[in-house]
Amino acid sequence: MKSTAVAPSNIAFIKYWGKKDKKLRLPENGSFSMNLSNLSTTTTVEFDPKFKKDTVVINNKRELKKTERVIKHLDRVRKLAKIDYWAKVVSENNFPTGTGLSSSSSGFAALSLAASKAAGLDLSKKELSILARQGSGSACRSIPDGFVEWLDGKSSQSSYSVSYKSSNYWDIIDIVAIVSQAEKDISSTKGQEYVNTSPFFKTRLANIKSKINKIKKLIDKKKFRQFGELIESEALELHAIMITSKPALIYWLPETLVVMKSVQKWRQKGLEVYFTINTGQDIHLICQSKDKDKVISRLKQIKQVNKIIINKPAKGAKIIKNHLF
Ligand code: DP6
Repeated sequence: MKSTAVAPSNIAFIKYWGKKDKKLRLPENGSFSMNLSNLSTTTTVEFDPKFKKDTVVINNKRELKKTERVIKHLDRVRKLAKIDYWAKVVSENNFPTGTGLSSSSSGFAALSLAASKAAGLDLSKKELSILARQGSGSACRSIPDGFVEWLDGKSSQSSYSVSYKSSNYWDIIDIVAIVSQAEKDISSTKGQEYVNTSPFFKTRLANIKSKINKIKKLIDKKKFRQFGELIESEALELHAIMITSKPALIYWLPETLVVMKSVQKWRQKGLEVYFTINTGQDIHLICQSKDKDKVISRLKQIKQVNKIIINKPAKGAKIIKNHLF
């Protein structure tokens, strides 16, 4: 019983930050994202009665903390499938881990699909999204295709993601600017525990539903400028919450700010490009495909940018035939 899945990472345009149920990973609010074509995780899972324990290898390494989190997820799958075999898991990301590029979203989406298939389950997209959410909240958005909404939900069964538009609906581009490959000090899981210490969090929650409705309308009409303004101010709002939490969470590096300032300067000169950023120093630039080459050539002139990854909107998690072992 061996299966392999590949899943995209996703970039949240309206962010998830804070949980109303920590164990079930029920979010404080709904969120909205796009799957990314060039940031992905491939994972092979095998359950076998002859294994004596679970083994987990991620990016050629065995790390205790990551292994524990994966084993907890395997336990959820074993419970659903009513099996008690040990498993072997091998997983590889095609991008840096822990720098703000949401490797936990692609990781737990790929793990959920590969492990459930390897355990003999044939879960629907909704069931897979619910399963992935329990591994890492944002992973539930990497199951459906394209532009995705995570429905807030008051219970485990009602908190999952659905596709709002397919991946070929709108040819916008996400260009990731990598400014450092250093792993962040405070994980997204840990950082979220402080969300209620920000005096501004209540205000954020009061406005978030209308933001989600707004982004959906702007996507319906493909109004890029207003869409870009909304996602950039949303990213800055998220970081305002982080910076005003106790302890203060400062994920940016000086290099990150260089990119942010450059984006604003390019815009003043007429280039329509906006940024968004999660928990880390690396930053996503969003533009229309007609402006892609201009954005790339300007980014290449910034010496603080080490690497660029170009993404189109992508489909969700899928099963593939080539196993990693
Ligand atoms: C800032 O999904 O990594 O990227 O559920 O604890 O695993 P856990 O958190 P995670 O948080 C992602 C936070 C974010 C915003 C987002 O992707 O919506």
